Amino acid sequence: MPKVLKVSSSAKLNLYLEILDRRPDGYHNLRTVFERISLNDTLTLKEIDSPEIRIISDSKDIPCDSRNLAYKAAEILKEDFGIEKGLEIRIKKMIPVGAGLGGGSSNAASVLLGLNRLWRLGLSRGRLLGYAARLGSDVSFFIYNCPYALGTSRGEKIRPLKSWKKRLWHILVVPKINAPTKEIYREFDKGRGLNVKAGTTRGRYPNVKEILFNRLEEAAFRRYPQVREVKEILLKEAGLENALMSGSGSAVFGLVDSRKEGLKIAKRVSRFKDWKIFVVKTK
Ligand code: C5P
Repeated sequence: MPKVLKVSSSAKLNLYLEILDRRPDGYHNLRTVFERISLNDTLTLKEIDSPEIRIISDSKDIPCDSRNLAYKAAEILKEDFGIEKGLEIRIKKMIPVGAGLGGGSSNAASVLLGLNRLWRLGLSRGRLLGYAARLGSDVSFFIYNCPYALGTSRGEKIRPLKSWKKRLWHILVVPKINAPTKEIYREFDKGRGLNVKAGTTRGRYPNVKEILFNRLEEAAFRRYPQVREVKEILLKEAGLENALMSGSGSAVFGLVDSRKEGLKIAKRVSRFKDWKIFVVKTK
């Protein structure tokens, strides 16, 4: 029987994202608060006899070749550990792509964690984090099994926020826009960001409403005015007290008190047929 492993791969939101400076390597030093949420893809890893890595997905939005971050994760482990057998990765996609929800990064982390078990590699968390950082800035967060974490440097240096115990409910809206991260950072460099002071993330458990901030919003709004529209509709029409873009967009989320309130607001914006709307909670 071939060895098979099914793993879940969660999305994230950024509750806070401040950019500190641009680095000589082109990346940006930042300070961000990640939250893991209850929206996930499912990955099935299966050993196959032929030596290749094969990606199969129900989604037309992701590449099923070596451009896929899950493929790259499998490829570096396969090479480093001289694994001869091939691997099939089935990706059941629920997390929208190009939305700032970390779907690709999460898939890559799930492959690292899954193959560590499937191939019995015995990699420590430190080693896994090393691989994660090579794959992308957001991959490391998903190596940790924690609901909230502070990310610094490129976002890959993670400190779990263990004292943050509260679980949050959100309404999450994803317009039909694929916002490439690189492009949003480039736009940010051209025009600088939001010209307001950010709140602070210090304190044992700050009031989440007070930290909500994303320095990349203005750049993303300039590039994709529809993302600003989503935020405005959520604030002015749907009656949300707060709304924030996640990561480099295009998803916008708001805090709600309960699943029930989330569903009520979802109903109010249900006429926007090309929006994907989710009610999610901290995971
Ligand atoms: O690390 P990752 O491959 O996810 O980053 C995608 C792009 O986003 C980078 O090529 C870079 O342009 C930009 N980026 C950045 N600073 C970060 C993270 C990402 O400039 N901290």
